[in-house]
Amino acid sequence: MAKVIDGKAVAAGVVDQVSAASKALEAETGVRPGLAVVIVGDDPASHVYVSSKSRMAKQCGFKSVQHTLPAHTTQAELEALVDTLNADREIHGILVQLPLPDHLDSDAVIQSILPGKDVDGLHVVNAGKLMTGDLDGGLISCTPAGAMLFVRQTHGADLSGLNAVVIGRSNLFGKPMSALLLAANATVTTAHSRTRDLPGVCRNADILVAAVGRPQMVRADWVKPGATVIDVGINRIDAPERGEGKTRLVGDVAFDECAEVASTITPVPGGVGPMTIAMLMANTVTAAMRAQGLKPPSF
Ligand code: GUN
Repeated sequence: MAKVIDGKAVAAGVVDQVSAASKALEAETGVRPGLAVVIVGDDPASHVYVSSKSRMAKQCGFKSVQHTLPAHTTQAELEALVDTLNADREIHGILVQLPLPDHLDSDAVIQSILPGKDVDGLHVVNAGKLMTGDLDGGLISCTPAGAMLFVRQTHGADLSGLNAVVIGRSNLFGKPMSALLLAANATVTTAHSRTRDLPGVCRNADILVAAVGRPQMVRADWVKPGATVIDVGINRIDAPERGEGKTRLVGDVAFDECAEVASTITPVPGGVGPMTIAMLMANTVTAAMRAQGLKPPSF
C-alpha cells in the first residue's frame, strides 16, 4: 500500500508560513496583504470556492474583499472593476473566479489584471516567466504550485533522471505543471485526449499527474510500480451504496487499485484540493512583499 499524502496537513503548514510572513510584513511596514476576489453570477460551486478563499484570507491576517456581481454584468463593467482594483494600493492580489458567464471574454479580463497582482498566475507575463524558467520573478498558478510542493516533498528539488507524465494541457493546470516539472529537471511528457496509447505513456512515468476531469480514468495497470501519483481531478459521481440519490467525490485516478502499485499517492478529497487555496494565500503575501520591495519566502 502506497504512502497517502495528507494534503490538509501540508496546506496547513503553508498557511502557517503565510500567516507568519503576513504578520512580519505588517509589523515591519504597516502594510497588510490585501486580496480581492471577484465572482460573477450565481454558480453554486463557484460561490462555495470563493467563500472559502475569502475566509482563509482573513485567517491569514489579510484584508479580504469580495465583489459579487450579477450574471448580467457587462465586459466593460467587469474590466472597470479590475482597473479600480489594479489602482488600489491596499489590494495586492486580484482573483476573478472562473468560469465567467458565457457572454464575457475571460481571457480579456485576466489580461487586464496587473501581472504583479495576478495571484492566479494566468496573465501571459506570469505564464511567460514560468515558461522561461524565471520561477522567482512571477506568480505561479496555485494548483500546479501546490501539486509541485508534494512532488518536492517526495523527490526533493532536483528531478534529474525522472520521467514525469502530466495528463491534461490546460492553461490553468497542465501547461504550468509541465513547466514546473521541466524546470526541476524532470523529463516531461504532456499527454492529452489525442495522445496515442495513453496507458503505455503513463506506465513510463515515475511521477504521474492526472488532470483530465474523468472519474477514475487512471487504472492500476497504467501506473509504474513505485511511482508517485498526483490526482488533480475532482468529480462528483453517484453513490447508491450511500443511499438513494447520494453522491461522492472521486479523482481522475482509481485510488484503491492504484494505491496497490504506486509508492506515493494523493487522495480525493484531501489531496491537491486544499493546496490550491493555501498557494493562493502564498501568492498574495508574495505579491504584497514584492510591492514593498521585500524578498518573499519560498513556499
Ligand atoms: N475556478 C476553478 N479553479 C480556479 C482557479 O484556480 N482560479 C480561478 N480564478 N478560478 C477557478
